[in-house]
Amino acid sequence: MAERNPNDARDAKVFALYAQLVEIEERLIPTGLHVFGRASSAGEKIDLLKMIASFDRPEAGVRALPENLVDEAVREFVRSGRDAAVRLLEQKGLSAEETRPAFTLLETVSAKLQTNNELDSLVRALRGEFIEPGPGADIIQNPDILPTGRNTHAINPYGVPSAAAFARSEAIANSLLDRYRQENGRYPEAMALVLWGLDNIKTQGEGVAQALWLLGTRPVRDTLNRTTNVEAIPLPELGRPRIDVVMTVSGIFRDLFSPTVQLLDKAVRLVAQLDEPFESNYVRKHVLQQVEQEACDQDDAAVRVFSNAPGNYGTNVNFMVMESQWEREETLGDLFVTRKCFAYGRDSKGRAIEGREARVAMDRALARVEATYQNIDTFEIGLTDVDHYFEYLGGVSKAVEKRAKSRPAIYLSDTLSRDVKIRTLEETVRLETRAKTLNPKWYEGMLKHGFRGVAEIENHVSNTFGWSATADAVDDWIYSEVANTFLFDESMLERLRDLNPHSAHSLVQRLLEANGRGYWDVDESVVNRLREIGRNLEDQLEGVA
Ligand code: BEZ
Ligand code: MG
Repeated sequence: MAERNPNDARDAKVFALYAQLVEIEERLIPTGLHVFGRASSAGEKIDLLKMIASFDRPEAGVRALPENLVDEAVREFVRSGRDAAVRLLEQKGLSAEETRPAFTLLETVSAKLQTNNELDSLVRALRGEFIEPGPGADIIQNPDILPTGRNTHAINPYGVPSAAAFARSEAIANSLLDRYRQENGRYPEAMALVLWGLDNIKTQGEGVAQALWLLGTRPVRDTLNRTTNVEAIPLPELGRPRIDVVMTVSGIFRDLFSPTVQLLDKAVRLVAQLDEPFESNYVRKHVLQQVEQEACDQDDAAVRVFSNAPGNYGTNVNFMVMESQWEREETLGDLFVTRKCFAYGRDSKGRAIEGREARVAMDRALARVEATYQNIDTFEIGLTDVDHYFEYLGGVSKAVEKRAKSRPAIYLSDTLSRDVKIRTLEETVRLETRAKTLNPKWYEGMLKHGFRGVAEIENHVSNTFGWSATADAVDDWIYSEVANTFLFDESMLERLRDLNPHSAHSLVQRLLEANGRGYWDVDESVVNRLREIGRNLEDQLEGVA
């Protein structure tokens, strides 16, 4: 063997660092809020077109433009049009036949971005007039959502998961299991998945398809081409064990995807009945063990699809966190179960289970979980933009921690980059923080909106705090850098104070809470400085009142 160069280790570190910097640099972020009725600016348009041109779209006969040329080619397209851009890439050795379809797509998208019917449509809607329908989706995944200002329609649940979503999800499920195996040396026996309605609309059911893959099943269509059944993928073909999957679905998912809820429940019950060894079928293993050890009915032991009680929505974990109305973290997980312990599906005698309270069954299923997971599939909303990710994924993870007596591995997929990527929660929080909250391009974009912009910054920090409360997934440096960037920089503090002293005060309070609850270990002098800033803001607010 060749002798190891002493610089190899150093080079590997430098390359790893480089890869991380590129990851942050390439992350697409919203640089400001959408202004109702306003078309995109030139800069926003170039960024969007670049992303749109970065994906293969076999259904439209469009190949992605090469990563190293996409910036130059899209700029040329915006400057001089389609033919000029095709010629530029021809000079770089790419044939016109290959690249023209991409620019033809960009031409259509570009024209639609120019128009904005939102205000007109609103006025027409208020007059009770007809509004043209259009699909609801992520703009990069489905540019057909343009022009905006149409009446968003959803999906046919019997079409879910689409063939494309199912095919695409195999790699995601495999990457997820590979990541767990890298860290734990074996497959997880059970996982908890969060499924949302809007996400499965946007992706035609990628989240659903991932659950089916983990179970080792595939959808089957009936004579009317409706996805109403599932079949097991034979073990030799699957090449790995079937994973037990506990699904917590949102109220919106339950309402929009009623046939899909049935499909998922059917998949679990099918797998539980297969005559396969326990080491290849964790669903069967867990169900039969529970039946034997707890004198439990097989129907009850196979309940895996949970949501709110009929007519109810949400976990309320976000409200509890935001209002600081809790003492111990486990309360957050318990609240999640209280809200979500209603079973859906159909038992072996064909009787519908429609939101039957099943707290014991849920406690039992969560007690086996070793990893939790949610699919992130939008370019617009991430972990710290809204409080819903931590209420769901954080909530279920905290519930698992108490019931399994061990914190689960927590993962998110990223279908935002060219390659499917699985990240741990901690990695995703760091990436979101660097790409958004602490990124001047992001916060300056927000601050252009004045009062609302400061509220957005404060929201991001509070949502980040939600990940401390539910999953202890936030590094100390994140809170320190938030304080340095927004509060210990005199001129920034002055801007926040002038634009929105209420949110500036809430930001200080949230950081103090992070320290008080033990999530941010920092020198007492820093805490004192924050307290002083907080007192000054209170004085100012009282002066205003
Ligand atoms: C959903 O699409 O199911 C959903 C949206 C926002 C919050 C929670 C769930
Ligand atoms: Mg910590």
